[in-house]
Amino acid sequence: MQDSDFTPIRVTNLRGDLPISFDVYMRVAGKYILYCRQGDSFEGQRLERLKGKKLRFMYVKNESANAFRDYMHKNLEAAYGSAEGKPIELRAEILQGAMQAAGEDLMEDPGNKSLYEVVKSGGQRFAQFVHQEEGALKALLQIPNSDLSPSHHGTNVGSLAVALAKELGLADKIPLNLLMAGGVLHDMDHYLHSNVFAKPLQELAPQEMSQYKLHPHRGLQNLEAAGFYDKSVLAAVAQHHECLDGSGFPARLKEKELDPLGMIVATANSFDRLISFERLEPKEALKKILIEKLGQHPLEHLQALQHMLKKHDILT
Ligand SMILES: [Fe+2]
Ligand SMILES: [Fe+2]
Repeated sequence: MQDSDFTPIRVTNLRGDLPISFDVYMRVAGKYILYCRQGDSFEGQRLERLKGKKLRFMYVKNESANAFRDYMHKNLEAAYGSAEGKPIELRAEILQGAMQAAGEDLMEDPGNKSLYEVVKSGGQRFAQFVHQEEGALKALLQIPNSDLSPSHHGTNVGSLAVALAKELGLADKIPLNLLMAGGVLHDMDHYLHSNVFAKPLQELAPQEMSQYKLHPHRGLQNLEAAGFYDKSVLAAVAQHHECLDGSGFPARLKEKELDPLGMIVATANSFDRLISFERLEPKEALKKILIEKLGQHPLEHLQALQHMLKKHDILT
């Protein structure tokens, strides 16, 4: 069997209790090995085992590509439809995986406008899920980012930003689809080039640190070249490490120069870095951010973050 017989599929789209109607293959040393058979599903231990493989892609035979698309569609609809009685944890896992996959598609092909539309329309629906479904945010944050993935982190940042916007009373003023898109894309440069910086900043050597500080600017350049991204999405990418007191990077912007959507993404980013990369429990992450980031993010953001996490029962 040759490469041309197979279609790559994103592993994060394989989630949930719906049986697959196609075989899934792994590519090992140029060979395609059957990994999951038709009739299997991806939840619990099987999903953990799959995540443990740290693969971004698996493969289906070309003749099964339509069956895979059909599976993705059904899986997504089942996860969004609360009437079916699926547990919120399972629904969150499916939707997080699908949002992450849409983000990865776009980050790998940022000049493709239709992929941007997919992220925006998917982001709108995802944001409603975060807002309206009890336990959604908690379930989303409980999904371990076991491979320190910048795209999983991006989905978390989007989810947190959406919940924060609601807590701040800005849900009607800030387009939630753009907030999700900004969260999903903000660390695009890490996703594309290296995950080496997904570690505590204090562990970086000086040279690594100067490289690290360029990532918002490089992400921005990548998206600007396409010419169709919304201004506030670009701001989220460019400004997610800028601080209220002018101590951020890459441009050391001052408060009046900061975009409101970008600032929400920045607060969500500071919090999720502690969860995704420093492996802190939300309660510890909140404590740390309240001490270390005081003055860097707006006080009302930090207060809203605390209230919002409490309200969503995330601090227990
Ligand atoms: Fe970043
Ligand atoms: Fe980040």
